[in-house]
Amino acid sequence: MGAQLIDGKGIAAEIRQEVKEEVAKLREQNIVPGLTVVLVGDDPASQTYVRSKQRACGEVGIRSDVKKLPGDTSQSQLIELIEELNQDPEVHGILVQLPLPKHIDADAVLRKIDPTKDVDGFHPTNVGCLWTGLSHQGFVPCTPAGIMELLRRTGINPQGLNAVVVGRSNIVGKPIAALLLEANATVTICHSRTQNLEEHCRRADILVVAVGQPRFIQGDWIKPGAVVIDVGINRVDGALCGDVDESAREAAGYLTPVPGGVGPMTIAELLKNTVMAAKRAL
Ligand code: GUN
Repeated sequence: MGAQLIDGKGIAAEIRQEVKEEVAKLREQNIVPGLTVVLVGDDPASQTYVRSKQRACGEVGIRSDVKKLPGDTSQSQLIELIEELNQDPEVHGILVQLPLPKHIDADAVLRKIDPTKDVDGFHPTNVGCLWTGLSHQGFVPCTPAGIMELLRRTGINPQGLNAVVVGRSNIVGKPIAALLLEANATVTICHSRTQNLEEHCRRADILVVAVGQPRFIQGDWIKPGAVVIDVGINRVDGALCGDVDESAREAAGYLTPVPGGVGPMTIAELLKNTVMAAKRAL
């Protein structure tokens, strides 16, 4: 049989079209949603991501601006810029591209973003909303929000299911665990110190993997029919691959491909969050 592939690329395109229609309506009222991305230094992967974000904004009618700062920018200079953007009424969303250079404390910087403009959902106020069941009041980080949307639009309801999250990052692991819990799944978070990882994975009806290690999860760790969400984007010998080995395709019921699964959803959700920020600013 083999798993049914979840078409993230197609679902993201649907969402971008929905956002485009919403932006057109806002523009009729002279409201132009605006996103400012702050990029410090010249990390090539970050530059590529930022260009993709700008292009996606342009396609749906969101005004986007990139503030490029040199790699030796000080933390206080960066915070000064964020404070200016917080005050600018034309800037509805602020995104500081991560990772930041090592001499900058990323947490200290993220805490300076006005939570009502924090379209990444990384500010402690938004994290607090998420973990107290008030995610709809704040902003949810884009990749986990995209995963929940993939499940919804594929007709998968997490209620009562065993969800296992491998990885405990603030960007993916922790927030997707909160969202699955909010959706009434029974959630286990596994990480690099977890004992018997394979056994945890074998119990998963929904397995979300975000560890950044190519083909880490093996096919025989997958419960037959499970929903497998592969968040990994790894480059091996010039080709992209996920954190889940190809052998998972036999056992899984549903699987997100890499590329074309979770990846395209992140930007689609960023566009959604930016429009939401603009609407809330009214
Ligand atoms: N770097 C990798 N993923 C992300 C993300 O979702 N947001 C930001 N700001 N930086 C990232």
